[in-house]
Amino acid sequence: MGLAVLAALAGGAHHGARAEEPLRPYVVVGDAIPASLTGASGDPEHGRAIVTNRQVGLCLLCHTGPFPQERFQGTLAPSLKGAGTRSTEGQLRLRIVDASKLKPDTIMPPYYRVDGLERVAPSFQGKPILTAEQIEDVVAYLVTLRD
Ligand code: HEC
Repeated sequence: MGLAVLAALAGGAHHGARAEEPLRPYVVVGDAIPASLTGASGDPEHGRAIVTNRQVGLCLLCHTGPFPQERFQGTLAPSLKGAGTRSTEGQLRLRIVDASKLKPDTIMPPYYRVDGLERVAPSFQGKPILTAEQIEDVVAYLVTLRD
């Protein structure tokens, strides 16, 4: 399942923005990355577009959420509704950057990691799925999802 998703993400990546820069360093504190990857806040509207995008984020392959207009949402993962109530901004950031740091056997793809992705298309190697800016946009959006 996880590999299938990564393959799908790699295929879809041709349509989305690709990161051409090296990963920015980040510091994990407990179960969170407290500081923004970019040093700035993301744009929640952009983040919503990424989360509901079938090519870039693919979040809805696994998750449901407060998206009444979106059909065929996934049931492999908890609903994103209330994500901003359950988790802090920093916890959400680490979850999106690399969920395996929280749960080693998670099926959720690491959206800001370049190692361990050797079984994906060559054009995808060495690049994170989302850019640092896109990660911050997604985090800014998830923070707004209150119960
Ligand atoms: C391949 C399936 C999959 C994809 C794709 C995926 N996730 Fe997840 N996600 C999970 C699973 C499963 C969990 C539950 C915890 C775990 O097992 O790691 C989870 C947990 C989460 C949580 C914590 C849920 C909570 O509030 O308790 C958030 C937030 C989240 N995902 C956001 C996202 C976002 C945003 C995307 C897209 C950028 C995404 N996920 C893509 C599978 C996925």
